[in-house]
Amino acid sequence: MPSKPRTAVITGAAQGIGRFWALRLASDGMTVVAADVRPCDETVAQVTAAGGRAVAVLCDVTDEASVKDLQDEVDEQFGGADVLVNNAIAYAQGSLMELTLADWRRVVSVGVDGLFLTSRALVPSMKRRGWGRVINVASNTFDLMLPGLVPYVTAKGAVIGFTRALASELGPYGITVNCIAPGLTRTEQSWEALAETGLFDRMATMQAIPRTEVPEDLVGTLSFLASDDAAFVTGQTIVVDGGLVRH
Ligand SMILES: NC(=O)c1ccc[n+]([C@@H]2O[C@H](COP(=O)([O-])OP(=O)(O)OC[C@H]3O[C@@H](n4cnc5c(N)ncnc54)[C@H](O)[C@@H]3O)[C@@H](O)[C@H]2O)c1
Repeated sequence: MPSKPRTAVITGAAQGIGRFWALRLASDGMTVVAADVRPCDETVAQVTAAGGRAVAVLCDVTDEASVKDLQDEVDEQFGGADVLVNNAIAYAQGSLMELTLADWRRVVSVGVDGLFLTSRALVPSMKRRGWGRVINVASNTFDLMLPGLVPYVTAKGAVIGFTRALASELGPYGITVNCIAPGLTRTEQSWEALAETGLFDRMATMQAIPRTEVPEDLVGTLSFLASDDAAFVTGQTIVVDGGLVRH
């Protein structure tokens, strides 16, 4: 165990998978900074109720000044971050001709610019400590030929490239950079949006493990990548999708 609790910043932690990741890293003993454009009060309340430590910080990961405020807050309260989970995302669905430039920019800016800005802001404290974990979030859609997801899949491909490139840069500093690629996961929001389409069942039947993925399926992989045990794993994308994608 580290001598003092580690600090994990999780973006997009107001709901969905990010909230489950906050709960898991807190139960692993980390102090969680739940950062989102929307209030993370419910996430903080759930972490606290479970006996963990968390604070909420409003942050737009696409806005350099907002990310600088997050950095200042984390530096001031905790002396920096040890773990950064780049989880925030925006979605836009439609064919190429239906999508607007604003749709494209929204998805790419949250999904890609966000990684760049948060990493630039929070990696320096990891370098100072000689220990750090950057964990990005891709998607198994990068390996599936699903229509209607051009900006999203483009952004997720960039996340994998960013992971590899940054891993090679930060290895000498004791910082690993990895990526988790979930499959279609049942959250309140994804269920509300997609349950009627039958997509959950279609995915499940194609998986080696034929049931719908839930956020609990993703927490162990994050916990491992954020741990000391994962010190020699870097630049990797771990697909957690019940065996739908086979490389
Ligand atoms: N749910 C799935 O089926 C699924 C599948 C594969 C990959 N993923 C990936 O897992 C991650 C979490 O997915 P989810 O379904 O829980 O997402 P979600 O849409 O439920 O939550 C995303 C969060 O990001 C926040 N956010 C959006 N823009 C932001 C910004 N500019 N700055 C800060 N926060 C911002 C939102 O407010 C929201 O709380 C994403 O990276 C997603 O691409 C999800």
